[in-house]
Amino acid sequence: MSQKAWDGRFSDKTDRAVEAFTSSIDVDRHLYRYDIDGSIAHCRGLAHAGVITAEEAESLVGGLEAVRGEIEAGSFVYSDSLEDIHMHIEDRLAAHVGALARKLHTARSRNDQIALDARLYAKDQTEKIVGQLKDVCRALADLAEANIDVVMPGYTHLQRAQPVLFAHHLMAYFEMFLRDLQRFEDSFRRTDVMPLGSAALAGTTYPLDRLHTAGLLGFSDISENSMDAVSDRDFMMEMLSAASICMVHLSRFSEELVLWASAEFSFVDLPDAFCTGSSIMPQKKNPDIPELVRGKTGRVFGDLVAILTLMKSLPLAYNRDMQEDKGSFMDAVDTLQGCLDIFSRMLPEIRINRDVTEKAASRGYLNATDMADYLVEKGMPFREAHACVGRAVAYALGEKKELHELELDVLRSFSELIESDIYPALSVHQMIDRRKTYGGTAKSNVQKAIERARKRLA
Ligand code: ARG
Repeated sequence: MSQKAWDGRFSDKTDRAVEAFTSSIDVDRHLYRYDIDGSIAHCRGLAHAGVITAEEAESLVGGLEAVRGEIEAGSFVYSDSLEDIHMHIEDRLAAHVGALARKLHTARSRNDQIALDARLYAKDQTEKIVGQLKDVCRALADLAEANIDVVMPGYTHLQRAQPVLFAHHLMAYFEMFLRDLQRFEDSFRRTDVMPLGSAALAGTTYPLDRLHTAGLLGFSDISENSMDAVSDRDFMMEMLSAASICMVHLSRFSEELVLWASAEFSFVDLPDAFCTGSSIMPQKKNPDIPELVRGKTGRVFGDLVAILTLMKSLPLAYNRDMQEDKGSFMDAVDTLQGCLDIFSRMLPEIRINRDVTEKAASRGYLNATDMADYLVEKGMPFREAHACVGRAVAYALGEKKELHELELDVLRSFSELIESDIYPALSVHQMIDRRKTYGGTAKSNVQKAIERARKRLA
């Protein structure tokens, strides 16, 4: 078909360059299944409202399913002159049902149609992302449980601070990803609103039962205001905000994995199957997966900013600018899904070098706070204890020794309160197990936290 939907109004043919410039088929072809599902529900809605007959609706549905079959079989032909997925499907529908195809677009505009397609897509993808986040969370809980005894230095300012359980460190990420999951579930509620029936912007003269159609499409609600419905892209901005925050978390984790996999740290071994080598340096094993995830974070932020900027200052209602939303939206969704998928595959394969992490946790004066706490227990005010331990650290540094490597009489020269029971108090395992406040790193705490985490996930 070389005819346009608007041929009646125009006397000149559309310029070829204009067709190419305005076409969105390369992007919105990926929405075909939602467009067809939406059209099928619309046909049934038209019949339900008595606008077309039940037989007409069923022929249209049959034709739409035939078009779906062609698209899925790869035999469907796309062309810029048909502009978008809506026109492609309607055009091809005519080959199956003839002139009846011209009734499909009754009581509908491409404005409510694309809003519908985008929401159906967003709902599907949100469900997938929520499932993937559950997989990542489960993988983290499993890895934490399998390594419950592994000790490592906890850091602040990327300086060794206090010993923690590796499991505790992992479960910090569990919390981040669980919040991400909740953000996606929350934005889902506002995505789950059907815009169909808003038509171009003002609603339609046909007596459509919008709630009935919403039921057919599995929407929980219908939009309140037709002008808002055709021009609202909040659901995209919300999803991409959630995606961006999730990518922040993935990038932080990635950064740690890159550091940990370096010779300088040697805390973890990443599986060979998830690394690549160098074309010139034979010794190299590069942590490409976390590096790429870190890199892709910028891409998702860019997609969010693109849609925010696109929507900024747009007057009501639909504007063609909005056609530009889908590229960024789908790119962000694909990118996030790719990152979550590879992460949940990689996590179970990570091997922690527990000797290295444990050694790192027992060097660098990570027990200084605990020595101060020891003095407080013996009656010294904390500030005084802090200063006293500070002097001991300065001395030990000069001796190139750790605090627990100083002889008792040396330690006692800093405070008479110190006795031989200081040594166990300075041991890594005691330091960890004494941090029993809710949310702290004591092993008994972390074990319970993992149990609770699994319940919260279910
Ligand atoms: N391809 C358009 C989009 O993605 C569909 C809606 C077009 N509406 C219009 N009046 N030209 O936004």
